[in-house]
Amino acid sequence: MSDNTVLIRNLSDHESSEVRLLGWIEKRRSSGKIGFLEVRDGSGTVQAVISRAKVDEATWQAVQDVTQESTVAVVGTVAADARAPSGFELHATSVTILSLTEDYPITPKDHGTAFLMEHRHLWLRSSRQRAILRVRSEVSHAIRDFYSERDFVLIDSPILTPAACEGTSTLFATDYFGEPAFLSQSGQLYLEPAAAAFGKVYCFGPTFRAEKSKTRRHLTEFWMVEPEVAFLEFPGLCDLAEEFITYLVARVLDRCAEPLKRLERDQSKLESVQGPFPRMRYREAITTLADHGKILEFGDDFGAEEETILANLHDRPLMITHYPAKAKAFYMQPDAEDEDLALALDVIAPEGYGEIVGGSQRVHDHELLLRRIKQHDLPEKAFQWYLDVRKYGSFPHSGFGMGLERFVAWMTGIPHLRESIPYPRMLHKIYP
Ligand code: 4AD
Repeated sequence: MSDNTVLIRNLSDHESSEVRLLGWIEKRRSSGKIGFLEVRDGSGTVQAVISRAKVDEATWQAVQDVTQESTVAVVGTVAADARAPSGFELHATSVTILSLTEDYPITPKDHGTAFLMEHRHLWLRSSRQRAILRVRSEVSHAIRDFYSERDFVLIDSPILTPAACEGTSTLFATDYFGEPAFLSQSGQLYLEPAAAAFGKVYCFGPTFRAEKSKTRRHLTEFWMVEPEVAFLEFPGLCDLAEEFITYLVARVLDRCAEPLKRLERDQSKLESVQGPFPRMRYREAITTLADHGKILEFGDDFGAEEETILANLHDRPLMITHYPAKAKAFYMQPDAEDEDLALALDVIAPEGYGEIVGGSQRVHDHELLLRRIKQHDLPEKAFQWYLDVRKYGSFPHSGFGMGLERFVAWMTGIPHLRESIPYPRMLHKIYP
């Protein structure tokens, strides 16, 4: 690689100098005398202008021959140009084709989503997909920063597990040397013992659910960030979720201006995401839904439609708490004032993005937890180690999980989760 190779993002540092770019051709236009190549190198896109009178025959021929998504080396002088999106263009003196692409399947014309999903590995190159995945990358960094700034210890929970965390109906089973094993639905159960070691812990990694239904909000493989805090009780948990979400939204607004602009995201909608978030108990939510013509029984879970009705009443995330214990997971602490209620929290994003956070205070009484495991028909033996957390120095504790893809879909304003992860896994979809 020659010394003057630079990234497009850094062109402003090289005005009037000769530089070399390495990248892919997004578009090519040429008249008899002048050619235009749009070159992308991952850091940005710039137009190279080639004047036939000023270049040798090989370069002019390359400009004629080059095709969409071929790789090229372009040498030229960096020139300021107020019309260019980056503020610069390149007056090229030499163009070399490094690899000529033939029959690139994704052309500038419109393609259906099914076709694009089959070509996900190539679709990633498009400006819209790049914008979404840049936001995802920023959010992932922000998640780690949030917890590390607050002295949480990162605990990597296992992917292969002997038991269910979030119900047995969405387990992916596999064979583990003759024993049944399951892909993790949540790292939570493994975080709770670690909270006794470090006080404040979190995990952030892929989780798996064999979701049998096709919806725009469900993936079978998704990333979840889960904090778990010793001696944190329910009100503190709600505060932590609120602080976390406002931190992430502010970070996206601060660092993702360019991708959000590319996605035509209405940023004013994100700017209103400030605390305090509205908080509503489940019973109140049921009443509100009835006022909007949706009659639910105590104990019914909210579907996408109910969530959207409730969320549309607010311009910021809505926290719903105190759910019927029967509808929730076995590990949730009952409300001391009403044993039928669980100290559970769901956060519903505005604009119809649905539940982004689910969490609770955990049962810390050994006998109660054992009863719950039995009531839920869970294999007691597989949970012995989890019960130990209550046996040896029990402590109240709480935590939640936030799905990265749901959060990114909300930030980027995309309607379907499938574009919020590089390689989505959905019902019957595992290629590429
Ligand atoms: O509410 P869930 O099921 O909570 C748990 O798994 C807890 N064990 C977390 C904890 O307390 N540590 O899931 C948490 C979040 C949801 O709010 C949603 O954002 C996301 O995970 N999620 C999904 N995202 C994409 N596709 C799916 N199939 C999802 N299921 C849950």
